[in-house]
Amino acid sequence: MARETPAGDLRLANLTKKFGAFTAVDDLSLTIPQGSFFALLGASGCGKTTTLRMIAGLEEPTSGQVLLADRDIARLRPYKRPVNTVFQSYALFPHLDIFENVAFGLRRRGIRSVDQQVRQMLSLVQLDGYERRRPAQLSGGQQQRVALARALINHPQVLLLDEPLGALDLKLRRQMQIELKRIQTEVGITFVHVTHDQEEAMTMADTVAVMNAGRIEQLGAPAEIYEFPATAFVANFLGQSNLIAGEVAGGNGGEILVTAHGGRFSVPAARARSNQGPVHLGVRPEKLHLAGTAAQVPAGCQYLDGTVSDASYVGVSTQYLLRTGWGTEVSVFAANSGAQQRFVPGDRAVAYWDPRHSFLLGRRTGEDDRTSPVLDEPVGASS
Ligand SMILES: Nc1ncnc2c1ncn2[C@@H]1O[C@H](COP(=O)(O)OP(=O)(O)OP(=O)(O)O)[C@@H](O)[C@H]1O
Ligand SMILES: [Mg+2]
Repeated sequence: MARETPAGDLRLANLTKKFGAFTAVDDLSLTIPQGSFFALLGASGCGKTTTLRMIAGLEEPTSGQVLLADRDIARLRPYKRPVNTVFQSYALFPHLDIFENVAFGLRRRGIRSVDQQVRQMLSLVQLDGYERRRPAQLSGGQQQRVALARALINHPQVLLLDEPLGALDLKLRRQMQIELKRIQTEVGITFVHVTHDQEEAMTMADTVAVMNAGRIEQLGAPAEIYEFPATAFVANFLGQSNLIAGEVAGGNGGEILVTAHGGRFSVPAARARSNQGPVHLGVRPEKLHLAGTAAQVPAGCQYLDGTVSDASYVGVSTQYLLRTGWGTEVSVFAANSGAQQRFVPGDRAVAYWDPRHSFLLGRRTGEDDRTSPVLDEPVGASS
């Protein structure tokens, strides 16, 4: 039985899936350490589900390997793989009660005394006492937990989760994120979680892989990729960034000097993905601060001046747009801590930042500033 396979890392090696002429997953190579919580994050259609389906055995790769503990499982039948999947639609058996839903995997393997294991699982997902209910008598979050218990009772080496929280409302979703993380820590099974919600990925995962058009753009710990994105796509998919088009004008010890729109800026060399030619100077909106005049900018900081073109109060913060002299708007998030000066549209202001919070990315010639779109949702929340 699958459970005897030696434990180990899950490795995708040059995994590719083509549907006709269209490449859905493009030469994907990555290693997911045993016992880690891994999130695959990307926009709709980028190939997340297709990747999971290949790991689960529901889709045959066009080429490449799926290795578990160095054993190629890509050609094993789905049920032979030490892998279970929880889908967005929980797909519980409506005619069976909760106990029997959870017991299903054990019964199918011919195991007769299931009582203790089922109760253990229900307790893990905090559904003690719900044994005799039917799925229709549970809330979305409870059904989701039953689906989780039903998968975990098989002791898979890898649990695949495809947007399992997609059907839940925001509050419940946040609760379940914390819950899922607790359960993962408790059972120590490798979780591969697919989502298009960046905050969800960052909340839960040890490692986040940002996927774009069938490829991984960047992979790392949440704080690592948020603080130092590798590409413009990542800078704006994982949170938001102001990306100012400039040119490298030279180096000065540990600093890289950049000219942009007539201004001169510096970025620590350690925060540069490129040190020559056209670049994007990146600063995240929450790393920008507003002041009335340049005289108020703290020593060591750099700044841009402009006119406030929008001020949106969103409770925890106020989100400003500052229109610069060259016409680009930069986005500034100011925490509503009560300590800051307020600005209204039409005010002249400067946006300043500590260069250690900026980053430098390579830029294709002709590519202009890339400022975050005007927000349609508050920071710290998502759909
Ligand atoms: N059976 C199929 N035949 C043809 N094209 C497919 C098939 N399955 C998926 N695709 C295409 O492959 C691409 C990746 O699909 P996939 O379902 O992996 O995306 P996803 O990242 O999971 O998106 P979402 O967030 O919307 O679920 C899409 O463009 C999709 O239309
Ligand atoms: Mg999908």
